[in-house]
Amino acid sequence: MSTIDEIKSKIDIVDLVSEAGVKLRKSGRSYTGFCPFHDNKNTPAFVVWPELGTWKCYGACNEGGDIFKFVMKKEGLDFKEALKKLADRAGVVLQAYEPREAPEVKEAHEHLRVLLEDAVVYYRTHLFNNKEILTYLREKRGLTDTTIEIFGMGYAPHGYDNLLKKFTSKGYSEQELIDSGMLSVREDGTTHASRVYDKFRNRIMIPIRDENGKMAGFGARIVDPNDIPKFLNSPETPIFTKGHILYGLDRARKPIRTADQAVIVEGYLDVIALHQAGYENVVSPMGTALTEDQLRLLKRSTKKIVLALDPDKAGKIAVLRGYETARQSVSEKFPVFDEAGVKVPAIDKDGERWTDAPHLLRFANQLSVDIKVVALPDDLDPDELVQRGKDEWAKLIDLAEPIVLHTMKSVISQYDLENPKDKAKIVQELEPFIAGVSDPVERDDYRQRLARMLRIDERILFATPTLPQIETVKSRRRAGGQARRAVPASVAVVNPTLRIESYCLGVLLHKPVLLYRVDRKLQEFGLSALTVEDFEYTDHQLLFGVVRSAVEQDEKDHHHYVMTHLPEAISDISMELLTYTDALSPVDDKLIEELLARFIDLRRMNALANNNQLRFLQEEDQLQDGANNKMYQEQTLQLAKLIHNLDQAKRKLASKR
Ligand code: GTP
Ligand code: MN
Repeated sequence: MSTIDEIKSKIDIVDLVSEAGVKLRKSGRSYTGFCPFHDNKNTPAFVVWPELGTWKCYGACNEGGDIFKFVMKKEGLDFKEALKKLADRAGVVLQAYEPREAPEVKEAHEHLRVLLEDAVVYYRTHLFNNKEILTYLREKRGLTDTTIEIFGMGYAPHGYDNLLKKFTSKGYSEQELIDSGMLSVREDGTTHASRVYDKFRNRIMIPIRDENGKMAGFGARIVDPNDIPKFLNSPETPIFTKGHILYGLDRARKPIRTADQAVIVEGYLDVIALHQAGYENVVSPMGTALTEDQLRLLKRSTKKIVLALDPDKAGKIAVLRGYETARQSVSEKFPVFDEAGVKVPAIDKDGERWTDAPHLLRFANQLSVDIKVVALPDDLDPDELVQRGKDEWAKLIDLAEPIVLHTMKSVISQYDLENPKDKAKIVQELEPFIAGVSDPVERDDYRQRLARMLRIDERILFATPTLPQIETVKSRRRAGGQARRAVPASVAVVNPTLRIESYCLGVLLHKPVLLYRVDRKLQEFGLSALTVEDFEYTDHQLLFGVVRSAVEQDEKDHHHYVMTHLPEAISDISMELLTYTDALSPVDDKLIEELLARFIDLRRMNALANNNQLRFLQEEDQLQDGANNKMYQEQTLQLAKLIHNLDQAKRKLASKR
């Protein structure tokens, strides 16, 4: 669910409108009242549909929308401001949106990426000219040439100036090569002729791309076992921030969505081997601690995340380090999240590469994702495991356990259950951790399990004084919000309009040019061209606006225009819509007809709903003074025409298929 959907699902539009001073009366599935946006106070022409989260004025305004539109209109806010206000009300934490890059900065980044793409080609050539390394990859690592190609693997030759010479002769400047992380600068004034030298030498090169497949840097593995370090990564550059990228995500995104599960492993080569074995929902960090940002990236595709770790790390994750000190300084160790999204620092000291359980639990609560852990069998990397047998991997992943349970078991295994003192220590260590589980039912369940595992009376556990609940702004607000009338759990599930709008918009965002073709067809059917009014939801209207302006300009490629003009405030829903239609079939007549049919459906559903509502309003009006009768009749007539035209269009479309 996108942030916007989450906000919608948590705010009851009836409450919102009522609180704005509109007295609403229930009538069937909708509520009616006087429109707050125009003067006429004779008959109520303002209708709210709680199930859809929408409203409409059938009177003078003849306008409608969702909660965002309501607040925008009522309080004169723009979308971003309305979003902030309603997120606040819903207790939903908005991501801190990164400021859009200035065009010249963007261009510089683009330049660095081009350079890195050239480097991929360069290293690839060296790999395919090097029998020894190729043999290692093929035979020792069991990689096929296709896999090597797909992942763009390469080889950096021996020597300090191969790339330097080649790339300066291509016209790249030393500075660009330094900025992209391909060259290192000598620390002191040595006798060497050059102040710079190739960073990667005699290493297997693994291109690291961001989630969109854009080059970001390299991971480089030793060939000579005596070289150190074993892995050398590109330094952090303007386009490579290790904590923001997951290796393999560009290829894993769709499979993660399909499997509704993401698996995180530790190594690049594990990711590659697993993909080759057919497990494509796998990614890895880059030898650094797992960050909240990385989980956020995954959350766009799934909420189910499995960490597959070597036994040592799986044990380490469970170390509840810091909990003793946490008792004294809760706020310092675990900063409360505010709307700006102040982040929990990922622990990465003493070469510790994995974030520990308390942090992971915090991330899980914060992002409402589900984190499970599975320890790999001793001394076997995922890569070795799948080489041994492909099915083993699937079986193993099935054994993953929720992070809380995993932590409980790991902690218990370090103590002697026969010793009462040890039992007390276990409780002491685990209780504050379990107290951090945000869902009260789940929390109680874990306490009961712990009591059973320790064979103690669970009442003792519940009686143990615990760490004061480390509350996030989010959970506090949410708790406050529960007093409100329940809103349908997920608007997205129950609401076909939302689903169809999302589909249509997703397709258009991918292929803006289709807009023209749909418009033309609509006009052939005697229907009006698409406008923002075809979308009920404000965020969708904004995005449609971007598509419209993309096709109306001709300086940039449409898709490029769309990608660079997505409103920041709704970047997450845009990404969601884009991935939603990732598996888009190629543009052909079928796709256009499908899109057209969906838009007609939308209009028809909308028209029918309006028709019903009008009939009801008309009856109401008759009971009063009938002052609006003429206006309603006019509206009804137009609707009847529209429905007739839509039906005809639908029939023509069907006969073509
Ligand atoms: P193979 O040993 O070839 O199978 O590679 P691997 O990818 O399985 O590596 P390994 O299990 O040793 O390490 C897992 C991951 O930790 C690597 O992919 C790197 O991202 C990271 N890593 C390992 N060693 C180092 C190191 O010396 N420096 C850095 N920066 N990262 C490392
Ligand atoms: Mn390995």
